[in-house]
Amino acid sequence: MIGILIFLLAAVISVSGIAAASSGQKASDKGAEAMTLEGGTLGDVPFPHRLHQENVNECSSCHELFPQESGAIRAQQKVGELKKQKVMNDQCIKCHLARSSAGKSAGPTKCGKCHQR
Ligand code: HEC
Ligand code: HEC
Ligand code: HEC
Repeated sequence: MIGILIFLLAAVISVSGIAAASSGQKASDKGAEAMTLEGGTLGDVPFPHRLHQENVNECSSCHELFPQESGAIRAQQKVGELKKQKVMNDQCIKCHLARSSAGKSAGPTKCGKCHQR
């Protein structure tokens, strides 16, 4: 009797496990490998997303400021939830500067290396 109960319990757990794995697909969506961010009159900014995912431990290092959605930065700027240049200054340039002064691999800090026309 107890054996059957354990068997049933195990079956329920494994079924719910499969359901969680398939519904979890959205949460594990890594997004585009590369993208171009709107950069105003200086020119747009090519952004190697996957390279950053591989070199930055936490998704939240960037996504604490904006959700994991295409066009999220612009959308939040439009409704005043995010100041223009905040992502650039508080994330992109801040991290690149901190890493390069610590002697670690980093991205560009000069305007024309990011903004391209
Ligand atoms: C160094 C910054 C940074 C890190 C780290 C980062 N992202 Fe992103 N992510 C971005 C930017 C910038 C965008 C584009 C936002 C926009 O279009 O306004 C984006 C967009 C996305 C999108 C939507 C775009 C698409 O192509 O579907 C998803 C999904 C996403 N990220 C998932 C992740 C996940 C998962 C992680 C962690 C494994 C992660 N990101 C780590 C900066 C980052
Ligand atoms: C590491 C890459 C990077 C560097 C270096 C950089 N930018 Fe940016 N810049 C961005 C990104 C990404 C955005 C869009 C997100 C935002 O507004 O925070 C942006 C946005 C801007 C905007 C706002 C454009 C708009 O219409 O919304 C201006 C102005 C700007 N940058 C000027 C500069 C100047 C001037 C420099 C040099 C001192 C510079 N940037 C260096 C990545 C960079
Ligand atoms: C938390 C740290 C961090 C943040 C935030 C960050 N970067 Fe970087 N970035 C890196 C590191 C680390 C590298 C070097 C990766 C390597 O080549 O090993 C890099 C490299 C780059 C490169 C050069 C890629 C190449 O092929 O050499 C570009 C362009 C770049 N970042 C743009 C951006 C932009 C635009 C943003 C903001 C949207 C941003 N980064 C935010 C850490 C960061």
